[in-house]
Amino acid sequence: MKGARGGPSGLRDTDMNSDDFPTDDDGSDDDDQPIARDHATPLSLRIGRRAVLAGGAGLAAWTMTGGKTARADGARTANPSTLTFIQPPHVIADGHAVAAGYDARVLIRWGDPVSADAPAFDPAHLTAEAQEKQFGTNNDFIAFLPLPAGSGASDHGLLCVNHEYANAELMWPGLSRKDQKNLSADQAQVEMAAHGHSVVEVKKTAGEWRVVADSRYARRLTLRSTVMAISGPAARHPRLRTTADPTGARVIGTLNNCAGGKTPWGTVLIAEENIHQYFSGAPTGGEADNHARMGIKGNPRYSWGRHDARFDIEQEPNEPNRFGWLVEIDPYDPASLPVKRTALGRFKHEGAGTALTADGRCAVYSGDDQRFEYLYKFVTDARVIHSDPAANRNILDHGTLYVARFEDDGTGHWIALRLGDGPLTAANGFKTQADVMIETRRAADLMRATPLDRPEDVEPNPVTGKVYAMLTNNTKRTADDAHGPNPRGPNPYGHVLEITPAPGPDGTPDHGAETFTWDILLRAGNPAVADHEADYHPATPDHGAWLAAPDNCAFDPRGRLWISTDQGSKQHKNGIPDGMYACDLGGPGRALTRFFFACPRGAEMCGPEFTPDGETLFVAVQHPAEGSTFDAPATRWPDFKDDVPPRASVVAITRAKGGPIGA
Ligand code: FEO
Ligand code: CA
Ligand code: CA
Ligand code: CA
Repeated sequence: MKGARGGPSGLRDTDMNSDDFPTDDDGSDDDDQPIARDHATPLSLRIGRRAVLAGGAGLAAWTMTGGKTARADGARTANPSTLTFIQPPHVIADGHAVAAGYDARVLIRWGDPVSADAPAFDPAHLTAEAQEKQFGTNNDFIAFLPLPAGSGASDHGLLCVNHEYANAELMWPGLSRKDQKNLSADQAQVEMAAHGHSVVEVKKTAGEWRVVADSRYARRLTLRSTVMAISGPAARHPRLRTTADPTGARVIGTLNNCAGGKTPWGTVLIAEENIHQYFSGAPTGGEADNHARMGIKGNPRYSWGRHDARFDIEQEPNEPNRFGWLVEIDPYDPASLPVKRTALGRFKHEGAGTALTADGRCAVYSGDDQRFEYLYKFVTDARVIHSDPAANRNILDHGTLYVARFEDDGTGHWIALRLGDGPLTAANGFKTQADVMIETRRAADLMRATPLDRPEDVEPNPVTGKVYAMLTNNTKRTADDAHGPNPRGPNPYGHVLEITPAPGPDGTPDHGAETFTWDILLRAGNPAVADHEADYHPATPDHGAWLAAPDNCAFDPRGRLWISTDQGSKQHKNGIPDGMYACDLGGPGRALTRFFFACPRGAEMCGPEFTPDGETLFVAVQHPAEGSTFDAPATRWPDFKDDVPPRASVVAITRAKGGPIGA
């Protein structure tokens, strides 16, 4: 499929039935309300502007104007971006699409085998036993780890993939979205098995990626059966003990794994995000305020609490305290015990972007993806020992968790969340550091952190050391509250924040620094519609494509930013597909977004991950056809067979003739 729609029949861009089935996003408490526009004067952004008037060969570009697709006349002006690919049509369609000259091939789908003894996918008869051996649903984060370990290989490795959540209405006939809370016990078990994480071995042969069958690394982690350890300050604390686990140090499974990160010692961190959706029962007793602060309100999306006491907080009030952490996995050792690292705090972790500090310690950035929540950074006490990966095994159990405070003058600093500092005392319910970690959000409230517009991925750029935060949207922010790092109220389209850590001894950004400066790289929305108050490079209407709801991101080897988007229920409202967008971060093409890959209808884009050579980009197409049902799916991507439902899948993108992505 070169520059064309995916699917067996090639170009598939008919606008098939898309009803107004109410949808929401992945549970991030976003809404679907009409947007009351504010016409306050936008803050001026500090994007370096350069008029681009030079002549020369231009590139085809597509923009959306008034809901209609129009081809922009890009033939008379040069494209100032270093990204020179020809963009695919910027429209929502049944299939995926990629820039001309690239191949985008489905690598693994929901239900494909992971374990050697996995049965074939049988969508008419889903069972938990089969699903535990098959690729889970709704793939999100992707990590590529080279094989052999530490080799830097780009044609052979492990793909580590999160399975964030389940759309019951797209898994079984006869259901609508609201029926998910009434599933049978067997269906709930299938959902639990479909959540979690997969490790698969992948290899590129003759230019094409394939999953290696019967790999000794193949592994499924699920909520039904995968035992995990709990370590760090909150481990063994009474608030983590349950009937099933009187130690408070062992838990079965991980929940709502959204994005993640890779550590410098070759392990993977996966983030537990919207855990509130799974717990039923009324928040009462000593944990009531804690549960309410995490959004556990007795109205779960899932039925699990009706079938399993651990998901009923009236029976097991401490069970939610065992979720909302970052989990460390060693994919190179399929027998290893995953570990929930409580020193990195408990909140709705979107992901975990890592970098080394100037003195060789590990920093982990993580956003708390909900409206008006915060951005965090953890820094280990110890230095990473590169010569001995095993020496770093428990390095994440000791360190300092910080939360960000931004000033309107473009500066900011990291505030430590440390027992005894300021209001973090027994008088406020923080008797030990375990309490600070279990109730990280409340600790951050008391330390006057800056509420942001749903921080999703927060990733350090390995080339420049600057840190980029995807602030996906916030329709609840008011115009009066729009200032500093939150420049728009309401903010339905999101923006990208650029954070520059204070320099270390060598003059480059130091991830160990407690101060930073910040800027806004771009403000999403349609730059051709004044009401959107969007702000990009001025050539975007001619040479780029606009985006909404930045969610995950990655950097290619040249340090350019690749953004994946998740408009949730607003995809149809905005009229543009979710997918991959990329831009330069410096030079004349800074903040000129270019459109690279389109998700099929109803899907959001997750998991962008480059191989070390930058010649493959793995992406995760999550929840194709969301907003419709198993009986009448809005698309049957990627199989396009009448008896096969839409399936979340990982797609491998390469250049047809080889070479780096995006050049
Ligand atoms: Fe799971 Fe914040 O997206
Ligand atoms: Ca998402
Ligand atoms: Ca996300
Ligand atoms: Ca999202």
